[in-house]
Amino acid sequence: MVIAIMGSGGDAPGMNPAIKRFVEYLSERGGTPYFIYDGLEGLIDGKIGRADYGDVAGIIHRGGAIIGSSRSPRFFEAPWREVAFKRLQEAGIEGIVVLGGDGSFRAMELFHREFGVPFVGIPTTIDNDIYGTQYCLGVDTALNAIRDAVDRIRDTASTLKRAFVVETMGRECGYLAAMTALTCGAEVCLIPEVDFNEKVATAILREELERGRRYILAIVAEGTKRTLGVARWLEEDLGMETRVTILGHIQRGGNPTVRDRLMGASFVVHGIDHLLQGGEREIVIYDGGKLGLLPVEEVTSQSYRLDPEIVKLLNFLD
Ligand code: F6P
Repeated sequence: MVIAIMGSGGDAPGMNPAIKRFVEYLSERGGTPYFIYDGLEGLIDGKIGRADYGDVAGIIHRGGAIIGSSRSPRFFEAPWREVAFKRLQEAGIEGIVVLGGDGSFRAMELFHREFGVPFVGIPTTIDNDIYGTQYCLGVDTALNAIRDAVDRIRDTASTLKRAFVVETMGRECGYLAAMTALTCGAEVCLIPEVDFNEKVATAILREELERGRRYILAIVAEGTKRTLGVARWLEEDLGMETRVTILGHIQRGGNPTVRDRLMGASFVVHGIDHLLQGGEREIVIYDGGKLGLLPVEEVTSQSYRLDPEIVKLLNFLD
């Protein structure tokens, strides 16, 4: 079977280990691996090429994706999808492995409905916000990058008796912020999924400051849009000299962790096996410690909900 792999949407560490395993494993299984370069944009433009072991040598430790990725508004216009289908036919591609998020899966769902192109999706986003899977490729590396930054910030915050507001990515999802607060020992955490009780937090922190607390770390998810508001609160209500650090895209880069290397490879092997067995339009998921599959429409029609157990653990200021 001729199968192509493509990145789509925001990149995430772990894509390269997945791409490497894709070429190796599909070749071992007697298939023919192809790359689609630059995501759905590249597909429309016919950037498709045969892949070989040589292409994936020495990439396992690298962040990003050697085949590129893109966000493609063009693909949501029917005539461009027709062009994309022609490109696939010309190259003889019989199935696609898509490393992407739910926007990419929605695009592929549409494509499959119109042209019947078989695909499997590998949940790939540092936001970890895809319905049906507890793990998305890249999130472990992102969390470790954030942990490293927050550990460093704590050094300077505690020395100079300051408050720091650290903004994490995640779009509308508070997973990165919540996990960071839990693992880096933050005093304050704001995520879109939970109301923040400023009054209670003020009372608790005032008391702690009176008892000698030297610094405050506040982790704020970008989706709350409250980063600067929290800084103002810490300055004005708690009287702390405050600095703001927006971590931004450093959260998306860097060498994939061991977990992301293993997960990238495992997701891909599961996906290839499924396509070789006649899979049509499924997403590989990780749930209860095991890999599985869900139909794409089940994944795209529902929203990810932050695990209530995580939310419960966050209630340390209420
Ligand atoms: O979805 C991944 C993500 O990094 C989000 O956390 C963030 O909001 C967004 O992408 C940033 O997008 P861009 O790279 O286009 O600025």
